[in-house]
Amino acid sequence: MHAPTPAPAWQPADARYAQQAYQRCGRAGLKLPAVSLGLWHNFGGIDDEAHSRRLLRHAVDRGITHLDLANNYGPPPGSAEALLGRWLRDEMAAHRDELLISTKAGYVMGPGPYGDGGSRKYLLDSLDASLKRLGLGHVDIFYHHRPDPQTPLDETLGALDFAVRSGRARYVGLSNYPAALAREAAAQLRALGTPCVIHQPRYNLLERTPEQGLLQALVDEGIGCIPFSPLAQGLLSARYLGGDIPADSRAARAHFLKPAAITPALLAKLRALDTVAGQHGLPLAGLALRWLLQRPAVCSVLIGASQTHQIDAAVAAAAAAPLSDGALQHIDALLADTPASP
Ligand SMILES: NC(=O)c1ccc[n+]([C@@H]2O[C@H](COP(=O)([O-])OP(=O)(O)OC[C@H]3O[C@@H](n4cnc5c(N)ncnc54)[C@H](OP(=O)(O)O)[C@@H]3O)[C@@H](O)[C@H]2O)c1
Repeated sequence: MHAPTPAPAWQPADARYAQQAYQRCGRAGLKLPAVSLGLWHNFGGIDDEAHSRRLLRHAVDRGITHLDLANNYGPPPGSAEALLGRWLRDEMAAHRDELLISTKAGYVMGPGPYGDGGSRKYLLDSLDASLKRLGLGHVDIFYHHRPDPQTPLDETLGALDFAVRSGRARYVGLSNYPAALAREAAAQLRALGTPCVIHQPRYNLLERTPEQGLLQALVDEGIGCIPFSPLAQGLLSARYLGGDIPADSRAARAHFLKPAAITPALLAKLRALDTVAGQHGLPLAGLALRWLLQRPAVCSVLIGASQTHQIDAAVAAAAAAPLSDGALQHIDALLADTPASP
């Protein structure tokens, strides 16, 4: 007789699915939670694993079914996938199929000619390495992380198609592709029989480039949009409104958000937005997320979080009443001359 497997100490909350709305991703049958969690920061080998696990449990308990990774998330690169793999094994083994796990390849992952780009070799070797770190047989979405002008598009897309046909991924997506290339890639993937279901652009109140053609392309092609950095890495929150850089903030810790980017002009704009948010009964971060969820093609917002209350704030924002036309016009007027965010 086998000894019974001990139950994990933690179990997901029974009421978790009542806390989120789940929307279809473009024309696909796949549904995404209004709020998804990315593991770019706070889940690496340099971070406190006990705290990272707390964030993951909290997200699942709030109905967040979608966890987003890339091969290079860490630091060191690969360590976020390894952490998620350990957590899935230790605490979520019985619930793996309740999660939508995505990963990507396309930025620098390793040295030499096969550690970057969009070649078939890099993408498929990288996906195999991701699956190993995650301890999974498949991911739910495999993305090409950014366009690679040195690789023929059909080679990159053929690799994505193969990822699905070989059982390594359920769906494929693209990230950071400009509008015309996204349309071309969508047509090629459809012809291959593996449609592009989702696109990940950087899109937030301070970064409106996707409005110059990409969102329309996604609507036309039936592709869901999941904006990354919806809070511009925390700028669109109360974090920096006081004019200083809190010691535990991303701007103080990581080089991706530089304190020099927080100019007096930007602060003035953020404070004005904060006033609009207050008029609508929302914190600034809530306004930023609510606004995105009302944009064309958007099916989920892909947040980051260093603290559990940030996850709660995002889930509350998604559940808040939609912004009125008047509020949307007010926001557009305020941001008319906003430069691209960091
Ligand atoms: N495809 C791509 O090329 C690409 C690129 C970047 C990101 N992504 C994906 O998008 C995910 C999210 O990106 P992101 O982390 O930049 O998203 P974000 O939501 O714009 O920023 C998250 C950060 O903002 C701060 N924050 C969040 N909620 C807050 C609140 N209520 N009040 C105050 N501060 C708050 C936290 O930073 P602190 O508390 O540390 O200050 C948090 O870590 C990534 O994890 C990744 O999965 C994809």
